[in-house]
Amino acid sequence: MRIFGLTDDVNFIAMEDLFAGFKYKKHKITELTDKDKELITAAKMVAKDAYAPYSGFKVGAAVRLVNDKILTGSNQENAAYPSGLCAERVALFYCGANYPEIPVKDIAIVALGKSNIITDKPVPPCGACRQVIVETAGRFKQTIRLLLVGKESVIEIKDANDLLPLLFDTSYL
Ligand code: THU
Repeated sequence: MRIFGLTDDVNFIAMEDLFAGFKYKKHKITELTDKDKELITAAKMVAKDAYAPYSGFKVGAAVRLVNDKILTGSNQENAAYPSGLCAERVALFYCGANYPEIPVKDIAIVALGKSNIITDKPVPPCGACRQVIVETAGRFKQTIRLLLVGKESVIEIKDANDLLPLLFDTSYL
């Protein structure tokens, strides 16, 4: 486990090192299948309309269901800061509310920095979103694949479970 002394340290660590210890594959966007490119494009489009006036950090998430339907979400902030929600959960909760029987297969995540440009480093889902992603996968007894999109490359994580060891689940209830 890496412990950062300063939050700025993250800027000096190569992307490969950030993902070291995780099972991932790095791709150029051009190497991806048309379906994955389509999902990433949907995430980029929706990110532009994120409501992020406080952080200035816009995130888009595009979800592919097993029936190949694509649904999207962006982060929604609020003057009462904790009332806001990340893009991933906006998208996944929308899927749960509207397509409760259809398993989720893939999620693409894109973040736009302050100047509306895709971040150099692919952004991983926050802890709370990982919890929701993993439970969404478990609910349908299947895995969810992540595509974390950076300016130059895409990190593919085949199984979101790998990002959240020792998660809290229904077995503790
Ligand atoms: N955010 C997301 O939507 N997804 C992530 O994976 C990381 C963070 C949002 C939450 C907040 O609106 C802003 O980005 C800054 O943290």
